[in-house]
Amino acid sequence: MQTALRTILPETELAIPANFAPHARVAREERPFQASGLPLSIRGLRKSFGDNEVLRGIDLHIPAGQFVAIVGKSGCGKSTLLRLIAGLEKIDAGSISFGADAQAADIRVMFQEPRLLPWARVLSNVEVGLGRDRASDSAQSRAEKALTEVGLVDKRDQWPSVLSGGQKQRVALARALVSRPRVLAFDEPLGALDALTRISMQRLLERVWRDQGFTAILVTHDVSEAVALADRVLVIEEGRIADDVMVNASRPRVRGSVELAALEGSILSHLLSADDRT
Ligand SMILES: Nc1ncnc2c1ncn2[C@@H]1O[C@H](COP(=O)(O)OP(=O)(O)OP(=O)(O)O)[C@@H](O)[C@H]1O
Ligand SMILES: [Mg+2]
Repeated sequence: MQTALRTILPETELAIPANFAPHARVAREERPFQASGLPLSIRGLRKSFGDNEVLRGIDLHIPAGQFVAIVGKSGCGKSTLLRLIAGLEKIDAGSISFGADAQAADIRVMFQEPRLLPWARVLSNVEVGLGRDRASDSAQSRAEKALTEVGLVDKRDQWPSVLSGGQKQRVALARALVSRPRVLAFDEPLGALDALTRISMQRLLERVWRDQGFTAILVTHDVSEAVALADRVLVIEEGRIADDVMVNASRPRVRGSVELAALEGSILSHLLSADDRT
């Protein structure tokens, strides 16, 4: 069944962790607005591609609803970790588990490219995020609500080709949000945006995360983005978590504050010293 679904839906919309039984994919009605996030526990996670040992034993617990950012130098395995969490890649060893009541549809991923379907209008692109529930009576109103959350409901009948890069990413965010995920994983979702659009998208991400309470896992190259958004920043180095930094600044965060700048500086110096060692 998973294979069949993967052929219908783009990878962006379908995260099926390997530890989910097919019967877990039950159709369901809309979640209550305040759906709670899921906790995530990773034990001894390993992943290699041929003789390239990318992840060499990741141990991590993320409490429900936490916003975690993952940073590390290019090629250190950030996307691989995210893809394993999302069930888009098979684990070699170890385990990834979510809360006891987790369902496959609870986990969603958003990538750097919006990956919209060019032949479908904006509203239909968002409905794709409902998976099998897109045939339900409430699909359209749910998609409209998600578009309202990202401020784009007036674009519902447009084609993706007429949208700006930032608007396309907001549609991709609406598509990820429409099923009320309990874990939302982001792989460099703002990497291709200009600086101002990026800051406004960061605020949007923070707002929807606070409103909806999902567990957020954000992979980013941008350490200032990591400290501005996350409760906790993980640094990956040589296949393991080399640093685990809590960001206790109050929300909404004040970008450019002395507190965040100091934290950013210390994480950057860790990353750069790792670079010097290689
Ligand atoms: N499907 C694959 N087949 C073979 N090697 C892969 C595959 N996916 C990733 N790798 C390798 O695994 C390593 C980690 O890749 P990954 O994409 O996770 O890095 P990353 O930290 O996300 O890097 P970046 O910051 O550049 O996006 C790299 O050496 C990459 O070449
Ligand atoms: Mg990557």
